[in-house]
Amino acid sequence: MVAKTLFGFEEILAEELRALGAEEIEIMTRAVKYKGDKALLYKSNLHLRTAIKILKPLLSFNVGNEDQLYRKVKSIKWDEYFSVAETFAIDGVTSGKVFTHSKYAALKSKDAIVDQFRDKYGERPSVDLDEPDLRINIHIAGIKCTVSLDSSGSSLGKRGYKLQQVYAPLSEVMAAGMILLSGWDKKSDFIDPMCGSGTILIEAALMAQNIPAGSFRHFTFETWKDFDEELWNKIQAAGKAQQIPFTGTLQGYDNNRKAVAIAQANIDRADVADFVAVEQQDFFKSEAPVAEGEEENKGGMIMMNPPYGERLDEDKDMIPFYKEIGTHLKHFYNGWDAWILSGNLQALKFVGLRPSRKIRLYNGPLECKMQKYELYRGSKKAAKQKLPR
Ligand SMILES: C[S@@+](CC[C@H](N)C(=O)[O-])C[C@H]1O[C@@H](n2cnc3c(N)ncnc32)[C@H](O)[C@@H]1O
Repeated sequence: MVAKTLFGFEEILAEELRALGAEEIEIMTRAVKYKGDKALLYKSNLHLRTAIKILKPLLSFNVGNEDQLYRKVKSIKWDEYFSVAETFAIDGVTSGKVFTHSKYAALKSKDAIVDQFRDKYGERPSVDLDEPDLRINIHIAGIKCTVSLDSSGSSLGKRGYKLQQVYAPLSEVMAAGMILLSGWDKKSDFIDPMCGSGTILIEAALMAQNIPAGSFRHFTFETWKDFDEELWNKIQAAGKAQQIPFTGTLQGYDNNRKAVAIAQANIDRADVADFVAVEQQDFFKSEAPVAEGEEENKGGMIMMNPPYGERLDEDKDMIPFYKEIGTHLKHFYNGWDAWILSGNLQALKFVGLRPSRKIRLYNGPLECKMQKYELYRGSKKAAKQKLPR
C-alpha cells in the first residue's frame, strides 16, 4: 500500500504506520510505502493522522506513450472491482516528460476502462467525479506508471467535523502533523491564540484522547466489492475502545467574533467541547494562565498560525505584527514552548526570538516554516507592568 502525505510529514507518518503494525516500510517523497493486509488498509484510513490518501496498487509498468498506457490499463480485469451499474472516477498525477498533462493520462485510462466494459457487456459504467463507487489513481513519474485503487475517497485531511471555516484554515492533516512534529506530550496545557476555525485545537484534543482521526467520516473502500463489513465493525469498535481520558486544558483565542463562533461549532461537532475552550480575545492582551493558588504559570505549549498577509493590502502590516508576537510571547508566556507556522518567511524573521528548531513545510502550494521558541522564565512582575490594557 502507499500512504500519501504532505511534504515534511513522511517520517512521522512512517512512525504512525509502525505503531499500526505495518511491515516493509519505505519512506518516499510525500508518501510512505508499506505492506499489510485488508485489516491494515482499514486501520490506515481510520487511524492515520498524517496521511491524505491510502492507495492500493494494482499494477505497475513502464510506459512510453499513450497507446501503451491504454493497453496496460485495459489489461486489468476491472469487473473484479466494480460493475457497469456502478460509477468511477480517475485521478491522474504525472511528472516527467512522457505525460505532461495528468488530465490526459486520466482520460486515456478512462477510455481503456470504458472500452473493456463495452466489449464485454455492451454497456459502460458512468463517471461520477464527486462520489464515485470506485476511485482509481494513475501515477506516472517519468516512464514508471502505477495504477491503484484509492481506498480513502476525499482527502483524509477532510475529517468531517469542520463544516465551517475561516479565511485560510489549515487542513486537518497539516494541523495534526504540526502537533506530532512539535512533540507535545498530550498532557500539558496547550493554547492556540489565533485559532481561526479551531483545527489545531480539535486535532490536539482528538490526539490527547486517542480518538481515531477518521471517526467522523466514510471511506471509499466501504463500497468495494470485497468490503468486509464484519472486519470493519470490529476495527471501528476497537478504535472506540482505545479512548483515554485527558486532564489538561486546550485553550483557543481569536480576536474575530465570527472565527470564535465557527471554531465553537466545529469543536461541538467533533465532540471535544469538554476539553477545548475558545473565546474572543486579542492575543496581545492575553497572558499565560496561572492556576488558582499558584504563584507562577506551570508552562505548556503555544502553537499558532498567524495571518501571513497574502492579501496585498495586509502586506505592509506584517513585519510589525510579527515583531509584536515575539515581544508578547517573551513578556507574557514565560516558561512556555511556542511554535509559529507561517508562510510569510520575511515577516517570521522579525519575531525577534531565537528559534531552537526550524521545520520546512508546505501549506498547500505555499512554502512555510514552523519555528520553535523556548521562552525562559523571567520576572512575572516586570511582565505584568508591560501588559497593555
Ligand atoms: C491563518 S488564520 C488561522 C487559521 C486556523 N489555524 C484554522 O485552521 O482555521 C489566522 C487567525 O488569526 C486571527 N488573528 C489575527 N490577529 C489576531 C490577534 N491579534 N489576536 C487573536 N487572533 C488574531 C484571525 O482572526 C484568523 O482567524
